[in-house]
Amino acid sequence: MNTTDFLAMQTEYSAKTRGAGKVIDASYPLFKNALQAVLKDFDHPYFGLADFGAADGGTSLSLITRSLDELKSQKPHLPVHLNYSDLPENDFNAVGRMLNNTNGAGDSFLDRYQQLTVSTTPVSFYRPVMPPQTLSLGFSATAMHWLENAPRVIEDHIHIAASKDEAAKETYREMSHEALVKILSRRAVEMHRGAQFLLVNFGINEKGQFLGNTRDVHMFNTFYANWSKMAKEGIITAEEVRNTNFPQYYRSASDYAQAVNDPRLEGKFELVSIDDLTTDCPYREDFEASGDRDTFVKNYPDTLQTWSYNVFYSGLNPSRPVEERHKIVKEFYDRFKSDIAARAEKHGMDYVHHLVLIKRV
Ligand SMILES: C[S@@+](CC[C@H](N)C(=O)[O-])C[C@H]1O[C@@H](n2cnc3c(N)ncnc32)[C@H](O)[C@@H]1O
Repeated sequence: MNTTDFLAMQTEYSAKTRGAGKVIDASYPLFKNALQAVLKDFDHPYFGLADFGAADGGTSLSLITRSLDELKSQKPHLPVHLNYSDLPENDFNAVGRMLNNTNGAGDSFLDRYQQLTVSTTPVSFYRPVMPPQTLSLGFSATAMHWLENAPRVIEDHIHIAASKDEAAKETYREMSHEALVKILSRRAVEMHRGAQFLLVNFGINEKGQFLGNTRDVHMFNTFYANWSKMAKEGIITAEEVRNTNFPQYYRSASDYAQAVNDPRLEGKFELVSIDDLTTDCPYREDFEASGDRDTFVKNYPDTLQTWSYNVFYSGLNPSRPVEERHKIVKEFYDRFKSDIAARAEKHGMDYVHHLVLIKRV
């Protein structure tokens, strides 16, 4: 199954994923340093800025705005071209609305930057997105852990990061390396020399932690247990559980060094820095600060659903009527919501990322 078969993120993405915005904001200081480094001895007709896997553009708006302010103050006359790309199913109308009516009252952030032009590209980052040597500073957050398709069945889980199936783990690791080499090869052609790219990506840190397993409730184990229980109850089949796989790979820090140095890349990179970032679940933080359990129980499940719904939907047998598939997935989330309501104190989805900065040399 191809990731493009999933609806990309659902609408209102940024409103439902405050954590992703928090991660991007935390990565801005590194992005700003990269921008300043690229501007030193800059000798190109325009500055190419791009956000790959941008969804509706809302979560990166602050980073983009601050970068444009920085460019404006350092090189007021330098033309800037900003590109947003994502899968074709993405809500690009939302990107257009966000750019042209940033505050919902008709004000456009584009008015602040006379030198700026913008484009949107409904094309996967596994393909060329920008013309050769036009990218000066690239960015991608929480997107490049998606593989083009699930490499194989995982016998004991629905997510490879939580699996003990060694054969599947090895296949996923190899496919993830190939995927990163492909992504970096595309970017190597697009980036001019001296250009930089900040990859803010879900990963596994040195403590073995990853998204949703830093707290009492291990999110992916709970997903798997509930989905398997629905199979035991005869609501879905064991085959459908087997066919439910997140086509994702959470890389370790060393995986990036390996890909950056792969001799097959279509251009050379230098690994400037790699850092870990753990970001507390903002819904859980609010709950702890306010004690408002009802708001947590109402809003927290939405943030899980934005990126996981289509994986469960796609695992179901396509011969089932569409309404039945949606009903089953709804039942799955209803059960998850009941669990959250029953033991809210134990739930929360902290983010575990790597901030990988690379330079085209
Ligand atoms: C969790 S969202 C992250 C959105 C935003 N970058 C952020 O950090 O808030 C992941 C995004 O990656 C996109 N995506 C997944 N695979 C992709 C691919 N092969 N090419 C481009 N975008 C992809 C999804 O459509 C989705 O919009």
